[in-house]
Amino acid sequence: MAVLADKCKDILVTLVDIDKERIKAWNDKDLSKLPVFEPGLSEIIKRNRDKNLFFSCEIAKTIKEADMVFISVNTPTKRSGFGAGYASDLKWVESSARQVADYASGHTIVVEKSTVPVRTAELIQNILSESEDNSIISSNKKSFSVLSSPEFLAEGTAINDLENPDRVLIGGEDNDAIKSLSSIYERWIPANKILFTNVWSSELSKLTANAFLAQRLSSINAISALCEATGAEIKEVSNAIGADKRIGKKFLDAGPGFGGSCFQKDILNLVYLCRYYGLEKISNYWEQVLIVNNWQKERIASLVVEKLFGTVTNKKIALFGFSFKANTNDTRESPSISIAKDLLANGANLMIHDPQVLPSQIEKELSSQETKRFSDKKGGWCFNRDLNECVKDSDAIIFLTAWDEYKKLDFKKFSQLMRKPSWVFDTRKIISKNSLKGTGIKFWQVGMGNCNPL
Ligand code: UDX
Repeated sequence: MAVLADKCKDILVTLVDIDKERIKAWNDKDLSKLPVFEPGLSEIIKRNRDKNLFFSCEIAKTIKEADMVFISVNTPTKRSGFGAGYASDLKWVESSARQVADYASGHTIVVEKSTVPVRTAELIQNILSESEDNSIISSNKKSFSVLSSPEFLAEGTAINDLENPDRVLIGGEDNDAIKSLSSIYERWIPANKILFTNVWSSELSKLTANAFLAQRLSSINAISALCEATGAEIKEVSNAIGADKRIGKKFLDAGPGFGGSCFQKDILNLVYLCRYYGLEKISNYWEQVLIVNNWQKERIASLVVEKLFGTVTNKKIALFGFSFKANTNDTRESPSISIAKDLLANGANLMIHDPQVLPSQIEKELSSQETKRFSDKKGGWCFNRDLNECVKDSDAIIFLTAWDEYKKLDFKKFSQLMRKPSWVFDTRKIISKNSLKGTGIKFWQVGMGNCNPL
């Protein structure tokens, strides 16, 4: 919405949320306090806030005055009830649709932006139709058109993804509504990049795009393990396969397993959807992508234990990077969570560092684990912003997020601070073997089959 306001100065964009604290943070004069860390976002907010971009808790008034409403609420995986563990919880979509139904006036175009299971637009349409029928007898006559326009941006590169998207998708039946929405996107996106589909194709395309991307990662991570076992190099393999234009170079970096708010949730949704329609084998096929992803995270935690003489009890390990990828402070489904939990369960003392994630967020993510403090015998974790302090007296450093600041570290200095034998585990392929030369540090890297001594 911030990018939309930036590109269309004549359109008034108001973001509303039931969370007052969040709105307050979006309105904070100090731009470093915005709730989301995203490169380039604060500059856009600075340029447009209180001009044609507003953040407000006045939900009823904003809906009443709007010609177009984007529903962009979260749709987390259900924890209980039918479809628990797989299906998306649509309670926020439903409650937003009810608010739109209650407060809208005149004709309103409702755009479903949240990632949703196929046929959710129908749910929104049904709720809105009820209120259309009721409004016929009242003085405030209402009508609605529902469109689906899922978002494909990736965190960390969101602004560029929004300014130069590969494509924009609009699903719907009402031509006037479709034209209104596409005329907004056309202000900065070439018309040939705007694709029109029916509503369900649009909803399914979002789930499928994420499932294909995640499948690529599970494929390359599976091969990384085979490289380690055979002596092949994952980078050489990914370069070689990526040179085939049909496969392509992007999204082929082996890592500790994928995280983020979308991939797991959307595949679980797809699995649920296939099962619902009786496509059991297809559902198992997609679930395998998640099984391999969990396996990658577990095998990394277990090989760390194995290399440290089969036990990490009371050993100090520096864990570098807690966000699910670089350039974001988002920790949802981050591989660091399950790897940290596995090491804590084995008695390790973790010194956690991340340039953007707050310790309170880490506390929240690790809270199902007994998060004992550092001095406790059974292990625990601490957060420290000083890399040297994290490394001091540690047996190992594990790199879990590819932050730029981890790419130029002084391992000579680190080796003097660490306990011997010292280990570096690089799950992101950001550490060069050369930077460890002469330090005596032992090295493991994902997909590195060549274990020649340094
Ligand atoms: C993803 C989709 O890319 C985006 O189109 C969709 O709208 C939302 O979900 P996002 O979750 O923000 O975006 O991040 P993405 O860049 O896709 O990374 C997801 C995970 O895969 C991260 O944990 C990342 O580190 C990992 N990854 C990505 C790899 O391990 N290797 C790669 O080559 C690429």
